[in-house]
Amino acid sequence: MVMAREFMFLALFLTCVTTYMSISFPRGWKDTEISVKPAFANLHSAKRSKFKSLMQTGYLPSTQRNVITSVPTSLPTCGRPVTNFVFIKVHKTASGSTFRVLARFGRNHGMTICYPALRRKAIHIQLSYPSGKLTKKDCRPSPGRKYNLIIHHSVMNKQAMARVMEPGTKYIGIFREPLNHFRSIFFWKNRMARRKENPLGEFLNRNHDRKRSYSKHHNFQAYTMGFPKRLMTSKNESQIYETIRTIAGWYSVVLITEYWEESLVLLKRKFCWTLYDILHTTDRLHALHTKKEHVPLTTEQKQNHRKMSNIDYVMYDYLNETFWQHITKEGPEFWDEVTYYKTLNSEVNKHCNSVGGKRVFPAGKWSQEFVIDSTFCKEWKWKEGQWAGACWNEVEKQNKEAQLKKTNGV
Ligand SMILES: *[C@@H]1O[C@H](CO)[C@@H](O)[C@H](O)[C@H]1NC(C)=O
Ligand SMILES: *[C@@H]1O[C@H](CO)[C@@H](O)[C@H](O)[C@H]1NC(C)=O
Repeated sequence: MVMAREFMFLALFLTCVTTYMSISFPRGWKDTEISVKPAFANLHSAKRSKFKSLMQTGYLPSTQRNVITSVPTSLPTCGRPVTNFVFIKVHKTASGSTFRVLARFGRNHGMTICYPALRRKAIHIQLSYPSGKLTKKDCRPSPGRKYNLIIHHSVMNKQAMARVMEPGTKYIGIFREPLNHFRSIFFWKNRMARRKENPLGEFLNRNHDRKRSYSKHHNFQAYTMGFPKRLMTSKNESQIYETIRTIAGWYSVVLITEYWEESLVLLKRKFCWTLYDILHTTDRLHALHTKKEHVPLTTEQKQNHRKMSNIDYVMYDYLNETFWQHITKEGPEFWDEVTYYKTLNSEVNKHCNSVGGKRVFPAGKWSQEFVIDSTFCKEWKWKEGQWAGACWNEVEKQNKEAQLKKTNGV
């Protein structure tokens, strides 16, 4: 069994590499503002180990493992990229890494961000979280323009958001397997707990928190994604399910933390972006920080969490299932693109973490030519706070430009 699988990896890997090598692409395919320059560098150094690690995460459903890709004759064409969206940033779901990607996208595309008006909110990268109430006053002013980007911590409130956003805004959500989420969020702002032997197990034995409709330990993700508080304690399963279906329908894409990079490729496809747009730093991806976060839990303790956080579990199952349905619809080529993306991304990481400076990445099967330079590599190391700062600068810059236009009577 293991041998057969290994063989599949190798076969698929070789298919990918030969495919990259043998195809030529139409020139001038262009849908972004990235500068296009002649290229001589060589990108195709896919490594088998990288490829194996993708397949060995253990998360890929078996039906996806054995797919052998076919070869397209040209890059897929796309309309205009989506540049009007809200990202619901759910705590402890890799939403920080996502924030960095989306803030960079927003800045690069000159989007009008609803940046928190209150300083105390801004320093915690919060907008409407934890209440979900949102009005125009919560955003720093952007005279004469509606907003087309929300990426700070907010609670989904479609009506309120639609009022401050440009018409036709799209929504991106994110969701993590609830027990993983619990393990991670438990220690957030609760550093004292780390001193105990097995704080997670102890907590689940006591099994409290069930009186409140949600807390950071239970049904937190559902709440942030827009599940109404008043239905949190419902015993009516079909009502819960219907509500989840409705909420899921609000989102164009829901990223699944366990398949974060695959999620980004799906997002890229749905929003007509480029692989350049979703390049990301791999420095702190899904890191579990302490041993105490991944202590074994008993079946009963896990069962307690499931009871306590029932909505999150049902919602995760629903969203994960629809995620895989979307991916199946994309066809086997999707996996080819994911592999290409991971290789490309790791090349960019290696470059920025070593020599840095200018480098041309030539067009390939799934990406146009692009150039990175020392500024790019400097920003590559930025944490969330620095990207939040970049958002602030972008707002200021746009406001100054608008002011200048006004005084010049344009
Ligand atoms: C997500 O769904 C896939 C496909 O149905 C399944 O194989 C996988 O186990 C699910 N992931 C989790 C973490 O439940
Ligand atoms: C449960 O919810 C469904 C759908 O919202 C509703 O039609 C049904 O009447 C509810 N059942 C009970 C027993 O309240």
